[in-house]
Amino acid sequence: MPETLISASEISERVDELAREIDATYRDEGELVLIGVLKGSFIFLADLSRSLTIPHRIEFIAVSSYGDSESTRRTGDVRLLMDIRHPVTDIHVLLVEDIIDTGHTIEYLQRLLAARSPASLRICSLVRKLDRAEIEVEVDYLGFDIPDVWVVGYGLDWAERYRTLPDICVVVPES
Ligand code: PRP
Repeated sequence: MPETLISASEISERVDELAREIDATYRDEGELVLIGVLKGSFIFLADLSRSLTIPHRIEFIAVSSYGDSESTRRTGDVRLLMDIRHPVTDIHVLLVEDIIDTGHTIEYLQRLLAARSPASLRICSLVRKLDRAEIEVEVDYLGFDIPDVWVVGYGLDWAERYRTLPDICVVVPES
């Protein structure tokens, strides 16, 4: 079994703190849309969204950043699999990620959405692996910095397993 790195209660506390920060930023700013990056962000997005007190819409976007689902290699080759449904022109956009690893996915999404002229574009990520960064990404709302270990749970998977674990846990892939 994977070992716990960040417990469900620590996650819950941090999600509430992030929601308070986001509330404060956007309170008087007009329309806000949270864009969850599938699949990994779905649990984080659900909790974050319900912890916010300000009105907001939800969209999802899906990208692929792996050669295959069991590989741990990052190629930087990001592809759009599913776009959001509504335009974001002149709307405040908060991209919600579960993890920033090399940074390629978020950089791709930033470029894609910035080209659509949103009122603002900010990044929220539950975790970030600083040691793995290949691209410098400015994260506006960050849950936790973590070491370079393979994490699962709370939406994060290893070959589609362990997404529904309540804690964020460490798994050691078999070689
Ligand atoms: C993960 C995560 C990010 C991306 C980050 O997605 O959800 O989108 O990798 O990696 P990067 O910073 O190196 O680009 P994954 O490809 O595992 O897909 P999933 O969310 O569907 O599990």
